[in-house]
Amino acid sequence: MSILITGGAGYIGSHTCVELLNLGYEVIVLDNLSNSKEESIRRVENITGKKIKFYKIDLLDRENLEKVFMENKIDAVIHFAGFKSVGESVKVPLRYYHNNITGTIILCDVMQKYCVKKLIFSSSATVYGNVEKVPISEDSPLSATNPYGRTKLFIEEILRDLYNSDKEWSIALLRYFNPIGAHESGLIGEDPSGVPNNLMPYITQVAVGKLHELKVFGNDYDTHDGTGVRDFIHVVDLAKGHVKALNKVMVSTGIDAYNLGTGKGYSVLDLVHTFEKVTGKKVPYTIVKRRPGDVAKCFADPTKANKELKWYAERDLEDMCLDAWRWQSNNPNGYE
Ligand code: NAD
Ligand code: UD1
Repeated sequence: MSILITGGAGYIGSHTCVELLNLGYEVIVLDNLSNSKEESIRRVENITGKKIKFYKIDLLDRENLEKVFMENKIDAVIHFAGFKSVGESVKVPLRYYHNNITGTIILCDVMQKYCVKKLIFSSSATVYGNVEKVPISEDSPLSATNPYGRTKLFIEEILRDLYNSDKEWSIALLRYFNPIGAHESGLIGEDPSGVPNNLMPYITQVAVGKLHELKVFGNDYDTHDGTGVRDFIHVVDLAKGHVKALNKVMVSTGIDAYNLGTGKGYSVLDLVHTFEKVTGKKVPYTIVKRRPGDVAKCFADPTKANKELKWYAERDLEDMCLDAWRWQSNNPNGYE
């Protein structure tokens, strides 16, 4: 079976390629490398001993996208390609709407033309907006607090309209919680450009000596130690969730959303202390004021994915820290 992975050179995409190749799927990657390096594809090939067919193409380039569908018999698409920085999306919203939403519309239009109607879409827990009740189940109210979140929310709606117009589609909307960690080989991992916005890459860059100290955004939240609580999920567990979703979309039609999280909430300081314990590295930090837009607690109720996809997150916080550290310490400058 041939799977097209848009954004397959990126963080989650590259880990998903490993899982698919190990199971014998043929993998075609499309990526414009706007936030990734081709080296990640080579590393995936090294890990798996299998080849990837790679197209350096922009999703917005319909003509070249069509060529991919003409040259390959594609059975399903896993759609990771998109911009993902919340802060940047506030500064350049039109770039985000164009890239994420127009890119998805072009992709779906071409898929429909070539009768490929199995799609897995990278959504996000960000569609739950200002979380009021945890754990969060899929039927919780949806909203967005920034342009990035709105692109995910709008795309979910667009895909629902698409399914309603043509019941041959089979679509899984995967709402990721906080992916961290790396493949156990230490060969692939998260490679943010510039200073990281997210917590785990910030911690690993402090530990490796690239950054001076972590700033913990607030210790006055209503949580067990006052710092924000999140559902950190190992990227390999997340990647395996895509394989399970693929199993489902291949044998059914419809559109369904699934939370991919562990169901457990850990605080910022829980993560720092676990990291220090398992790696033996110190992570100096100071407490600063809250980051605007952050919620106190965000963690999943993953029951639906457990039951309907037969998917369970298996790796714990220690695994996430050890694997993130192996990647960072072996590759202090990422893929460069
Ligand atoms: P990433 O930036 O590492 O990967 C995205 C890939 O898409 C990159 O390789 C980039 O070059 C490519 N891309 C972007 N726009 C493109 C375009 N127009 N044409 C072709 N390629 C394009 O990000 P990631 O962390 O792997 O995230 C993958 C997806 O999951 C994204 O859609 C993101 O919004 C979503 N998501 C990520 C997180 C997270 O914490 N990492 C959380 C929730 C949802
Ligand atoms: C953020 C995005 C979310 C996106 C997700 C994954 C915001 C408001 N939300 O989620 O839309 O889907 O990343 O890319 O940006 N923290 C620190 N110091 C730091 C960094 C983070 O204390 O230097 C804290 C935060 O306040 C938060 C926790 O760590 O409590 C996790 O932060 P982060 O990794 O940025 O993820 P989210 O904010 O949950």
